[in-house]
Amino acid sequence: MRIQVMDDYEQLSYWAARVVLSQVTLQSNSVLGLATGSTPEGMYQRLVDMYQQGKVDFSDVTTFALDEYLGLSPDHPQSYQYYLYNKFFNHINLPPENINLPPGDTTDPEMACQNYEQAIASAGGIDLQVVGIGVNGHIGFNEPATSLNTNTHIVDLAEETIQTNSRFFDNIDEVPRQAITMGMGSIMGAKRIVMLANGKNKAAAVRDSFSGKVTTEVPASFLQLHREFILLLDKEAASML
Ligand code: GLP
Repeated sequence: MRIQVMDDYEQLSYWAARVVLSQVTLQSNSVLGLATGSTPEGMYQRLVDMYQQGKVDFSDVTTFALDEYLGLSPDHPQSYQYYLYNKFFNHINLPPENINLPPGDTTDPEMACQNYEQAIASAGGIDLQVVGIGVNGHIGFNEPATSLNTNTHIVDLAEETIQTNSRFFDNIDEVPRQAITMGMGSIMGAKRIVMLANGKNKAAAVRDSFSGKVTTEVPASFLQLHREFILLLDKEAASML
């Protein structure tokens, strides 16, 4: 595990974009696993800037989104699909056929999970996975529990996650109660993983994940076991380490 502490969110976003840039530069047909949420917004903006400046080419890249709310249509402004198109895909030269998203509007969630897992395997696995962290230590939507799922699966969101994510919705009743997420095995199977965390409200989750024991009650703690894991923090998120 390599930990890098940045001065602020701007620097964090820049360095996160540099990690993606170097991955795609070294291997043009990279398979990227992509997180959403407020944390990586700056990274996507930087990557779009780098693309517009001719510094990176996504024409041979394949992407897999990490997770999606269940029951939101793809054009819902809070769906992760909408987010990724809006903040990233619409502004770069990633071929549409190379974009993979867990279908939040599926009528057969079990089959959708199997298909997604199969698609990741067929693509040869993920080369670089970008993740954020929930305030309760979740990654993707792998919530704290007594056991964790390996593969892409349907999950009931934790009360804390529903509360935290309600800031994106008009009211808390609109927050979906379930999601489809890559599992711990899907994430840990990536060749490289980079986590981004910023702000004081992530400090306790970062401490519990990376200065403590590996436990299913803090899913992000499993990343300590990954051979090529980079943790990019701003000073506030690192303040309790
Ligand atoms: C959400 C997403 C995660 C994300 C996390 C943090 O619930 N499922 O993939 O990493 O919460 O979000 P944010 O970056 O907005 O704090």
